[in-house]
Amino acid sequence: MNRDDVVNLLRTIKYPNLDRDIIDYGVVQGVDLEGEKVSIVLDILARNDEIPNAVRTAVETTLKEHGLEPDIRMQVKRFPNVSPNAKSQTPQQPLGPHGTSPDPWADRQRLENVKYVLAVASGKGGVGKSTVAVNLAYALKFRGLNVGLLDADIYGPSQPIMLGVKDIEVVADEQQRIYPIEVQGLKTISIGYLIEDEQPVVWRGPLVMKTIEQFLRGVAWGALDILVVDLPPGTGDAQLSLVQKTPIDGVIIVTTPQDVALADVIRGHSMFEKMDVPTLGIIENMSYFVAPDTGKRYELFDHGGGRKAATDRNLPFLGELPLDPKIRSGADQGKPIVIADPASENTQVFHEIAEKVVKLLEESVRLH
Ligand SMILES: Nc1ncnc2c1ncn2[C@@H]1O[C@H](COP(=O)(O)OP(=O)(O)OP(=O)(O)O)[C@@H](O)[C@H]1O
Ligand SMILES: [Mg+2]
Repeated sequence: MNRDDVVNLLRTIKYPNLDRDIIDYGVVQGVDLEGEKVSIVLDILARNDEIPNAVRTAVETTLKEHGLEPDIRMQVKRFPNVSPNAKSQTPQQPLGPHGTSPDPWADRQRLENVKYVLAVASGKGGVGKSTVAVNLAYALKFRGLNVGLLDADIYGPSQPIMLGVKDIEVVADEQQRIYPIEVQGLKTISIGYLIEDEQPVVWRGPLVMKTIEQFLRGVAWGALDILVVDLPPGTGDAQLSLVQKTPIDGVIIVTTPQDVALADVIRGHSMFEKMDVPTLGIIENMSYFVAPDTGKRYELFDHGGGRKAATDRNLPFLGELPLDPKIRSGADQGKPIVIADPASENTQVFHEIAEKVVKLLEESVRLH
């Protein structure tokens, strides 16, 4: 038996409750073979020890059955949002009229035909949420998934510009649901498609809520694997409406490296934690700058703060993106870098983030 045979053997072990095997799922980090002795490192993200133990036992049994001597090292990472006191931080709900605790989210229902809802959020404005949302949506699409992008920024929609959608007519089906606008295979909706250019949006909270509800259920999304929601900054009506209208399977927080932005990360994470929405991780945007002429790298705002915030909050760090003129011009000219420049280094970063996000969503839904 050589190392490949051992790896193939490990491929016969399914990750509990999933269709995928443990190699495919990325749980096995190292395999070393010396004679009969196999050293294996298992790296598992889990809410409790049940699944890690089941995987370890399965690996042990399988290897022993084939005359090998397993030596297993296991690293279990805790899934975010499961600090032991997370629940007790949830404020007590006031008692309802009949002495029962009203559940403000009682009418929350999953969207029909949508497997995962993923929100992209930030505490601070202008950090690159919309840029991340659209590029991540395309990177997810590239993985063969059906993806939708919902622009939940009602006061300042950016997706029409980022996608280069101008002067379109939105059409409704016979049930009065509007068809999403498809751009390079990505289904999208934005208030920018429905109102005249330059017309200021001065709606009040209840209308924001209605619009978000409309975008979730009044759009003929069809079957989607992932609906990416581009949120406005902060913790306002859009965030609240979204959480009240449908369960969110995960939120990604985008930040820039400065301290002020990081303080907002903490605020944002705490808000989602209180609303029982799992934060999947943090992305640091505008992390550094590489001068195109000299190739010299400049760390303008204390690079690395996003990673530190992630470690402090016990959240996965999903990746970092530099300040890149191609990212900016892509966003402003309706050609997101992931489709405009598929070979670029930063497109690759989006693909890596997409891969992590898919894994984390699968975990989140299974564990939540
Ligand atoms: N990595 C990057 N490199 C260069 N420019 C970037 C990068 N990320 C975002 N930008 C640019 O920064 C500006 C703000 O980005 P974006 O609109 O995505 O931020 P946002 O967080 O969605 O903002 P808002 O809070 O207003 O919704 C845009 O002009 C965008 O092109
Ligand atoms: Mg935005």
